[in-house]
Amino acid sequence: MALRSRQTVVMLPMRVWDLPVRLFHWLIVVLIPLSYLSIKGGFPDVHKAIGFTMIALLLFRVAWGLFGSDTARFARFLRSPGAAFHHLGAITKREPDTVTGHNAAGGWMVALMLLLLLLQAFSGLFARNRHNVEGPLAKYLDDAAVQAVSFVHAANFKVIFAAAVLHVAVIGVYLFVKKQNLIRPMLTGKKRLPAATRAPRMASPLLALLFLILAAAIAAALATQF
Ligand code: HEM
Ligand code: HEM
Repeated sequence: MALRSRQTVVMLPMRVWDLPVRLFHWLIVVLIPLSYLSIKGGFPDVHKAIGFTMIALLLFRVAWGLFGSDTARFARFLRSPGAAFHHLGAITKREPDTVTGHNAAGGWMVALMLLLLLLQAFSGLFARNRHNVEGPLAKYLDDAAVQAVSFVHAANFKVIFAAAVLHVAVIGVYLFVKKQNLIRPMLTGKKRLPAATRAPRMASPLLALLFLILAAAIAAALATQF
């Protein structure tokens, strides 16, 4: 009679998110509500300052998605639609977390959120409201175009809000149904993974700093030169 051995998988803490990705994430979580409150509360200058900060953060994130750490790279987390649907099929299945970065479905959601945020931040540059609060590039467009862009800027915020609610709800499903805590790794950078998992390569913090300085310089030029 064949003996069945019960294998225990050894789990070890592994760094999956670098500091730049975590800082980027928690900064946008704070800045998005503040950008809404500032413009609605009558502080357009604060709104614009937050907007330029968001532009710098987003430009940084795009560069980091191309040249940064493994788990930050678009080429790594944008998998085939088939892989995404396969992952979604098991979303309520209780199983240990073996994913090193964004999962196959989450990767597409992340890309969508980044695109929506880019559209939001860059449309703000051309927007104007009825109190003549305007972005620095609005003066280069005619009235009809400014109106259209301002509509996009206002409507897209609702889409971002809906995407963020869905994002948090899905993370709740992972936590309470699938029993996988994705929030802790986004805070600490570390996840417990099977010991045999290949550790992702983390890019140099100096490279991150260089990209951040370049991104901030572009945002500052937009804020001051036009
Ligand atoms: C991701 C960053 C941004 C977010 C989340 C955001 C969000 C918003 C929201 C919610 C409104 C109110 C829309 C409404 O009336 O319903 C608004 C208006 C406005 N924002 Fe932004 N914004 C961002 C970036 C920017 C930037 C970079 C600028 C320009 C420097 C800007 C300039 C304006 C202007 C001029 C308005 C008034 C015109 C309008 O209502 O469309 N925003 N923004
Ligand atoms: C304004 C609301 C939010 C927006 C726009 C947002 C956006 C994002 C984006 C763009 C990423 C990808 C990070 C990257 O690769 O750079 C991400 C990941 C993540 N977010 Fe959020 N987020 C929001 C709120 C939250 C909240 C409130 C939580 C916690 C409950 C959260 C938890 C996470 C986690 C755990 C991940 C990593 C998911 C994974 O393991 O693949 N987010 N979020």
